[in-house]
Formats: sequence, structure tokens, C-alpha cells
Amino acid sequence: MKDLLRLRTSLTEEIERVLNEQIKMEAEASAMYLAMSSWCDRNGFDFSAGYFKKQSDEEREHMLRLFKYVSDMGGRAVSPNIANIQVEYDSFKSIFELALQQEIAVTQSFNRMADKCQKEKDYVTFSFLQWFLKEQIEEEYVARRALELFEVIGEDGTGHYEIDKRVPKITYENTYEA
Ligand code: FEO
Repeated sequence: MKDLLRLRTSLTEEIERVLNEQIKMEAEASAMYLAMSSWCDRNGFDFSAGYFKKQSDEEREHMLRLFKYVSDMGGRAVSPNIANIQVEYDSFKSIFELALQQEIAVTQSFNRMADKCQKEKDYVTFSFLQWFLKEQIEEEYVARRALELFEVIGEDGTGHYEIDKRVPKITYENTYEA
């Protein structure tokens, strides 16, 4: 019976489980960024609202990339149930703090997954995860630079207005890869 299951999918139960957990994490991130976009809109931070909307779209892309992989490998990709997404935030700055924490947590999750793939000798999934690990360099970079704007520009006077304008202009330049 076990061998027959192997014919259906080349993913082990454990790898399929962690991939589905990651699908859920990306969906939660997408929902969280959308909630942040809404908060920014309501509080007059139009540029940041656009920035978080874009981030939300990207997280959904990540989710779908994982979803397709699990399906392509013959596994059971699970459409995640998302609930209890925070709607209100303490301050403009706190949103960027949460965003950075989220990205760090995602990087750690992918690192744990890569580790698990090596232990289970699933080098196909290990190779698939490389795209996400590289993507996290950019995701963390942008989140960190955005938060640093609060220190560099300051929050007094027109500070928030200036920060809001600059957030979408942060770009990551990858200079060490072809
Ligand atoms: Fe899908 Fe921002 O990590």
C-alpha cells in the first residue's frame, strides 16, 4: 500500500504537510498586507496603501507557486482557511514593524523547510525552495529599509508624509547574481 501511495506522489507526508503550512502562511501574509493597505488608506497614507496592496498581491503569487508545486507533484494542495486578520494597528510605524517581523518569520520557515528536505533527502523540493529563499533576501531588505525611514526622516512635523511618499520607491538591487 505504501508503495502505491508513492506512485501517486513523490512527496513524503511530512514534506506535503510543511508545504501546505507554508501555503497557509503566505495566504495569511497576503491577507495581513491587504488589511494594512486598508488601514493606510483610512489614515491618509495613500502611497503606503498602494505599497501594501502590491505586497499582498505578491504573497498571493507565492501561495499559488507553492500550491501548484504540491499539485504538480501529485500531492494534495489545501486551500487555506484564513481567519482573525488584524484590522486596526497602533500606529503607522507599528505596521512596518509587523511587516518586518512577518518577513523574518517567513525566512525562518523556509530555512526550516530546506533543512527538513535535506534530512528527508528530498532534493527536488529542496531545489524548488531556492527561489523562495532568494526572494526572502529582497523581502527582508525592503521591509527593513521601510522601517529605517522612521529613524532617518523622523516622525515629527511632515515626517509621516515624507515617509509615506518614499516607501514605494524602495528598490532592491541584486548585484551578486547574474
Ligand atoms: Fe512570501 Fe513576503 O514572503
